[in-house]
Amino acid sequence: MTDTRIARLYGRRVWDSRGRPTVEVEAHLEGGAAGRAIAPAGASTGRGEALDLRDGGSRFGGLGVDRAVGSVNGEIASALLGQDAADQESVDTLLVKLDGTEDRSRLGGNAIVATSMAILHAAAAASKKPLWLHLSGGGPVRIPLPEIQIFGGGAHADRRVDVQDFMVMCPAATSFAEALEWTAEIYRATGSLMRKAGKSGGVADEGGFWPDFDSNEEALETLTRAIEAAGFRPSDQVGISLDVAASQFGDAGRYRLALDNRTLDTERLIDLLGSWIEKYPILSVEDPVGENDHDGMREFTHRYGNRCQVIGDDYLVTDARRVEAAAAAHAANAVLVKPNQAGTVTEALAALQAGKKAGFGTIVSARSGESEDVTIAHLSVGWDAGQLKVGSFTRSERMAKWNEVLRIEEALGTTAEFSGWSALPYHA
Ligand code: PGA
Ligand code: ZN
Repeated sequence: MTDTRIARLYGRRVWDSRGRPTVEVEAHLEGGAAGRAIAPAGASTGRGEALDLRDGGSRFGGLGVDRAVGSVNGEIASALLGQDAADQESVDTLLVKLDGTEDRSRLGGNAIVATSMAILHAAAAASKKPLWLHLSGGGPVRIPLPEIQIFGGGAHADRRVDVQDFMVMCPAATSFAEALEWTAEIYRATGSLMRKAGKSGGVADEGGFWPDFDSNEEALETLTRAIEAAGFRPSDQVGISLDVAASQFGDAGRYRLALDNRTLDTERLIDLLGSWIEKYPILSVEDPVGENDHDGMREFTHRYGNRCQVIGDDYLVTDARRVEAAAAAHAANAVLVKPNQAGTVTEALAALQAGKKAGFGTIVSARSGESEDVTIAHLSVGWDAGQLKVGSFTRSERMAKWNEVLRIEEALGTTAEFSGWSALPYHA
């Protein structure tokens, strides 16, 4: 039997997709197996997220991770030595206890999540299985429906447009590989529409076009036209998914849409989003109102939850208790699952399971600051999440995840089931 006790943990500083420092952890087990993971980082973070430990000061704009790396090589390594990597729950419980704070600010959310994921990889390596199979234990899994960004805005593009992500979903595709083919055609069609209109201003943080639009609605119009220009039927075959990330431009009662030069109360913001749902092929809306606007989330879900996925990201912060409360109040019908928002692999899984229990859509998600790490591709399949959100269809830190799911789909062969429409809560 392989010895899965942790023999050595090692942290180092590496760099993320925004050129900022982040934490990588390597875990080595007594039996010789090893695993490695890199912490991602958000920009439009919700309150109640696990907090990264940053060095402060002037170096790297205060974003250094020397202290977080020190946490891994010091306290964390000492505490985890000899622990069983195959018992992820005990490892994660120990990490949470060791930190001792609610927000993981003492040892650092970045140090803790990279450790938790590295140990998961080491355990999978010891079991001689790919990570997704180690997680599923051979149980039924679906290949996730991807949400892929075409335009980036909000905090990821200096607020050039107020809405953060304009994404496409291809639920009528018959496989993940086909969903990517369709997206590639739509991405190309968007590019040529943008060039013709002189509206392209480079790329945003997650690699989507950084659009030079005159209104938020122009993005929806352009995207719908691009879907058609690529030869697909909007709504029937390809839909739009929005991450409004409303906390970035307001909260309960007062929302400032700078591009549209309008300030709206909650009711008017919901009306505006509702008018877009009527007019455009929108299948999913994330954080339609601010993270503290519970009444707004309830109202939006009440009005549109029977025809549209309503995702809580900043609103639910990958917290199982918040997911349960939102389900009881009908204040969302889907949960975004970000391991570093929860803090550990075990806590992220708990949020996903709470979502499934409530009949929610579940979406494993990357952050705006990413790396070549592909852990989330495996989590989305191994946990049978049904959906995966990674960012755009450019740049290697994004493509690494999409390409990893292609490999998993190929490995599953004829037994691979693409989630498609079944991933969306109102189609269930
Ligand atoms: P973040 O954005 O990683 O900057 O938080 C992603 C999202 O809001 O879904
Ligand atoms: Zn979001």
